[in-house]
Formats: sequence, structure tokens, C-alpha cells
Amino acid sequence: MKHVHVEVKQPAATPGAPGAGGTDPWANQNRVPGIKRIVAVASGKGGVGKSTVAVNLACGLNRLGARVGLLDCDIYGPSIPLMMGIHQRPTLNDDEKMIPPINHGVKLMSIGFLLDGDQPVIWRGPMIQRTIQQFITVTDWGELDYLLVDLPPGTGDAQLTLCQTVPLDGGVIVTTPQEASLGVVRKGIAMFEKVNVPILGIVENMSYFTAPDGTRVEIFGNGGGRREAERQNTTFLGEVPIFTEIREGGDRGVPVVVSAPKSKPGLAFLAVAENLRRRMNQAPAST
Ligand SMILES: Nc1ncnc2c1ncn2[C@@H]1O[C@H](COP(=O)(O)OP(=O)(O)OP(=O)(O)O)[C@@H](O)[C@H]1O
Ligand SMILES: [Mg+2]
Repeated sequence: MKHVHVEVKQPAATPGAPGAGGTDPWANQNRVPGIKRIVAVASGKGGVGKSTVAVNLACGLNRLGARVGLLDCDIYGPSIPLMMGIHQRPTLNDDEKMIPPINHGVKLMSIGFLLDGDQPVIWRGPMIQRTIQQFITVTDWGELDYLLVDLPPGTGDAQLTLCQTVPLDGGVIVTTPQEASLGVVRKGIAMFEKVNVPILGIVENMSYFTAPDGTRVEIFGNGGGRREAERQNTTFLGEVPIFTEIREGGDRGVPVVVSAPKSKPGLAFLAVAENLRRRMNQAPAST
């Protein structure tokens, strides 16, 4: 079995801004052959459930019949291997391309697959950029309808660079109701706008909690994500409540949309996946 060697020593060449295609919002000039849509999942702050949403959307889109890949760009805290239940070093095909491991029907690539144990990653920006470029171009993704990209939390320079490195067709912002009310979402939108990546919509996570007596407890307030989507003139893709099963699914490596698609949390994620699919298909794909 051939093993993968990822070369991270050379500084990256700066690619042109993706999506900078004049007035057509889908005119992505750096399109990857075989991949119809590359969509980033971002958030203004950490811990809002971005990776949880990314894995459940990837598996949800797969349940809806799409061919899906998921790329973990969170170099410092890759959580996709844990949440998707797979820790496997990719092997190389005859063309020396990395074969992405598959679990729950989704093709996966993560820096977590290439690291040994819990060693800390201390990399300079260009190394990260180069590695992510290789994940896109030196991975044998095959034909995909959607490649979702889990970005590191925040909207700073590192995230901006990643948005320029990956040829994105669109961005989704995950927020909690509270974060939305604090205006953090706007930073995420501004980040995508800076690199001409169209914003596909907002997902509100941890919307509410259902108490044992059935009462809806809105820990972080009410309707912030929907209101912010209206204010920003973008699509509200849906809300996902707090459920223990969602956290357990992440820890077990079986997203709830896979283990219990007909449960309340499963249906909540499937509804968001359906809305996102509709949104991603609004413009004609060009591959
Ligand atoms: N709707 C939910 N219900 C219950 N638990 C949730 C929900 N969404 C996320 N969690 C849990 O919250 C924690 C943080 O979620 P997650 O790791 O997806 O956030 P993140 O935004 O990707 O974090 P980071 O900023 O570290 O990348 C995890 O333990 C996850 O299982
Ligand atoms: Mg994460």
C-alpha cells in the first residue's frame, strides 16, 4: 500500500480570487473539474456547531441522493475524523492522487488523517495554504455534486486566506441566536464578500432546547438567525435545536442524520440540507 506524503515546505503561489467572475455570482473561474459546487461552512466565532452542521449537511445531502465530499480545513482543530468516525491515512492511486476515505457515503479529507496522534500543529500560513491546495488538487475526488468545506472558526486573515485558496462557489454561515444578535454574522458575510464568494444563507444552530415537560427553552434568545438573514438580504436555511443526540452523534462518529434520520434532530438537519440543495442548484452548474 502506498502512503501519502504531503509536501508543505514550499510557499504557495497566490491564486486569483475565486468567484471573481464579473456580474455572474456563480462564475467561478478556478472551478475544479468534476466538482459542481464547493461550499464553505463558516462562523464568526468558535463552538457554535459549525463542524456538527457541516457533517450533518454532508450526510444529509448524501441521503437526498447527492454525491458529496467534505473537506476539513480546520488545520488547528480538525474534528471531522472524530465526527465522521474515521481515522484512516489516505492511500495513493496510480496517478499519485490521494484517495479520500469514505464513511457514511461521504468522501472525506482532513489534515487529521495525516497527523500522528495528538501532535500539535505549528505551521506558518503558506504551509497551510499549500496543504489545503493539495487537498483540493491532489485528491481524487471523482465526480461530486457538492464539496462542503469546514473552515476554522472566525473571520480573520487565516480564514480569508483559506477562502482564497479554495475555489469556492458559495458560503454558509452558522450562528447561534445570540451570536446573530451580537452582529457576529455580519463579519462572516463581510469575509465572503471580500473574496467575492456568494453567500448562500444562514443556519441557526442551538436555536432552543426542549425541556422534559415539552416546554421550548430559548437559551440564546429567539429568531436571531432568521432576523439577521432578513437584515442581510440572504436566505435563512433553517434552525437546529439543541439535542443530546446531536452531541452524542458527533462524539460517536455517527451523525444523527445517519443514525436517526426520522428523529427531530435528524429531520431538522435534513430540512436545512434540502434548503441548501435548493439554494445551490438555483444557478446552472457548469461542469
Ligand atoms: N444542536 C446541537 N445540539 C447539541 N449539541 C450540539 C449542537 N450543535 C453542536 N453541538 C455540540 O457542541 C460542541 C461544539 O460543536 P462543534 O465542534 O460542531 O462547533 P464548531 O463551531 O465546529 O467548533 P470549533 O469552533 O471548535 O470548530 C460539540 O460538542 C457538539 O457536539
Ligand atoms: Mg469545528
